Amino acid sequence: MIEQIQKIENELSSYEFNSAEDTEKFRIQFLGSKGKLKGLYALLREVPNEQKKDIGQKINMLRVNAEQMLLDAKQNLVGVSANQAKEDLTRPAAKMPLGSHHPLSIVRREIIDVFRKIGFSISEGPEIEDDWHNFSALNFPPEHPARDMQDTFFIKKGENEIALRTHTSSVQVRVMENNQPPIRTISPGRVYRNEAISARAHCFFHQIEGLYIDEGVSFADLKQTLLFFAQEVFGNKAKIRLRPSYFPFTEPSAEVDVSCTICNSKGCNVCKNTGWLEILGCGMVDPHVLESSDIDSVKYSGFAFGMGVERIAQLKFRVNDLRMYSENDLRFLEQFKSAL
Ligand code: PHE
Repeated sequence: MIEQIQKIENELSSYEFNSAEDTEKFRIQFLGSKGKLKGLYALLREVPNEQKKDIGQKINMLRVNAEQMLLDAKQNLVGVSANQAKEDLTRPAAKMPLGSHHPLSIVRREIIDVFRKIGFSISEGPEIEDDWHNFSALNFPPEHPARDMQDTFFIKKGENEIALRTHTSSVQVRVMENNQPPIRTISPGRVYRNEAISARAHCFFHQIEGLYIDEGVSFADLKQTLLFFAQEVFGNKAKIRLRPSYFPFTEPSAEVDVSCTICNSKGCNVCKNTGWLEILGCGMVDPHVLESSDIDSVKYSGFAFGMGVERIAQLKFRVNDLRMYSENDLRFLEQFKSAL
């Protein structure tokens, strides 16, 4: 068996492609349904079980090599015939392989477009942040567990702490420091948390933060804005529900669920039979936070929200393993060619 593999390997490496016909000959001889590689796979059945894996891998390698040779040869020969046909200006150009947008970019753009329609601007901030913007200005008490080493990637500990931002709420602070209300902005960006990487958690992911501050902004405005967002992104039958929650920088705070788009709220394993999916955290900006950034909390009020882009992408594209988003596997990425 090994000799046969070796023999075909030699034949492959000494094969010469001289014309377009050769590529077809090559295909039939090696890769066709009666080709030499098919023959090898047939023989694999007779190989003792303990060698099957090893020999199987060798044959697979041969096949991959042969397929690559064929592709390369086809491409080279296109070049040759293109030269020969130089004078035929009507000949269609060789096809250029088109890339695709990353699923997270597609979803980020869609969300941004929804908020742009209702007058939100876009703002960005640095991924490397100081303690003030990531925690202190947002009302995190000094001993708050989120500051812990467990969650935060610190770059410099001690006085004037520097860390990778753990959420995009840090951009809220930067916007409030540099602008007076009315403020209406969303901040997309990458955030980092010190988590073990698994299908459900990653040490970096993406959020989109929203901030709206003006005179007389109420919780009803927040609710209506989020309902509008949910219906734009998940369809006009989507419903939302708000559950009381806690964030140091909003009061009152809520977590928002959207009706499960996968089972139409009938109950499935994605929504754990509840009919609802959690998509974001939100609340009315704590007056303390406004004052920390020199905004008059008597005159002004506002709301803020923060959502995970991966989470929304998971619901739109049914991708259940977070790791796929950063593995750069073309077989995954190419599936998004038609999405926008
Ligand atoms: N920053 C919060 C988080 O990362 C989300 C949030 C943003 C909550 C804005 C309320 C207001 O979990």
